[in-house]
Amino acid sequence: MGNETINAAVLHAQGATPRYEPFPAPSAADGQVVATVLAAALKPVDRWLADGAHHAAPARFPLVVGADGVGVLDDGSRVAFLAPAPPYGGMAERVALRPGMWLPVPHGVDDVTAAALANPGLAAWKALVHVGELTEGQSVLVLGATGASGRIAARIARRYGAGRVVAAGRDARVLETLGADATIRVDSPREELAAAFATAGPYDLVVDYLWGPPAEALFAALAGSQAPRIRYVQVGISAGATLTLPATALRAAPLELVGNGGTGRRLPDLDEVAGVYRDLLTWTAAGELEIEIERVPLADVATAWLNADGRRRVVFVP
Ligand SMILES: NC(=O)c1ccc[n+]([C@@H]2O[C@H](COP(=O)([O-])OP(=O)(O)OC[C@H]3O[C@@H](n4cnc5c(N)ncnc54)[C@H](OP(=O)(O)O)[C@@H]3O)[C@@H](O)[C@H]2O)c1
Repeated sequence: MGNETINAAVLHAQGATPRYEPFPAPSAADGQVVATVLAAALKPVDRWLADGAHHAAPARFPLVVGADGVGVLDDGSRVAFLAPAPPYGGMAERVALRPGMWLPVPHGVDDVTAAALANPGLAAWKALVHVGELTEGQSVLVLGATGASGRIAARIARRYGAGRVVAAGRDARVLETLGADATIRVDSPREELAAAFATAGPYDLVVDYLWGPPAEALFAALAGSQAPRIRYVQVGISAGATLTLPATALRAAPLELVGNGGTGRRLPDLDEVAGVYRDLLTWTAAGELEIEIERVPLADVATAWLNADGRRRVVFVP
C-alpha cells in the first residue's frame, strides 16, 4: 500500500461502527483488479461480519466493510463485484477484487438498483434452486417473506417452477403484495401459528430467513406432513439465532435440513450466476420484482449503520 488514500467505511475493531475516513488506496497486486465503486448496499451479512457473528468474520483490523457492490473496471465495464480482497470492501471509493469475481451489469439498469439486488436476489435463487433443488410444480414456503431477500424468494419461486407459494412473515401489508397463493402471519400465538402452517401445507421446500420461534412452530406443524420429502433450507436468523428442535419433530417428518452457506458445498458456476443476475435485473426493470431502496451518501455510513431498520435497503454512493 502506498501513500495515496481513498475515502472508505473503515472498521477498526469487531463490533465497532464503521467510520468514513481515509484508507490506503488499493493497488493491483497478486493478480487483483482495482475497481472504482459506484454503489454498495448495506446487508445483514455486512453487520454479521463486522460484529464477528459470521463464520467468515475477519480477525484483522482496520478494514473496509462491504461484502459486495457495483463498480467500473479499468476497461470501462460495469460489474457487480462479490467478496472483495481483504482488507478492502465495497463501501469505499475504490476496491481490490479477486480475478473474475464479478458479474456484468446490463445496460439500462441503474447502479443503485444493481447493487441493492445482488445479495438478496442471488441468495434467493441459491436457496430455491441451487441448494433447495426446486423442481416443477413443487409447493414452496418462504418463511420470512417480508425482508428484502424473502420478498424476492417469494416472487421468483414460480419463475423457477414452483406450483404453489406460501409466504409467511410479520408485515401483513407486504405479504399481500407478493402474489402468493396463501399468506401466514408469524406474529400469532405459537399453537395458532403451527395450525396455520399445517393448514397451508404440505410443502416440498421451505426457505427460512427467520429461524427462532416461527421456525419452532413450523417444525411442530411439519410432523405428520403428507409430503414425501421436505427440503428445508436454513438461510437467515431474523427472528432468532437458535431454536429448540425436538428429535421427534425430525423423526416424524421426511425432513432434509440444509444450510444455504457456501462452506463444504459445490459453489454455483459464476457464468450461471451471471445469467441469474441478468434475469433478476430484467424482471425488476419489467416491474415483476421490486426492492425498496434508500440511497445514502457513503459519508453518512456511521449514521445509517446505526439507524437503518431493514424496511428499505440502504445503498451507499461514494
Ligand atoms: N445465507 C445467505 O446466503 C443469506 C443471504 C441473504 C440473507 N440472509 C439472511 O436472511 C435474513 C434476512 O435477510 P434480508 O436480506 O431479507 O434482511 P432484511 O431486508 O433486513 O429483512 C429482515 C426482515 O426480517 C423481519 N423480521 C425481523 N424480526 C422478525 C421476527 N421476529 N419475526 C418475523 N420477521 C422478522 C423484518 O420483517 P418486518 O417487515 O416484519 O419488520 C425484516 O423485513 C438475515 O438473517 C440475513 O442475514 C442470508
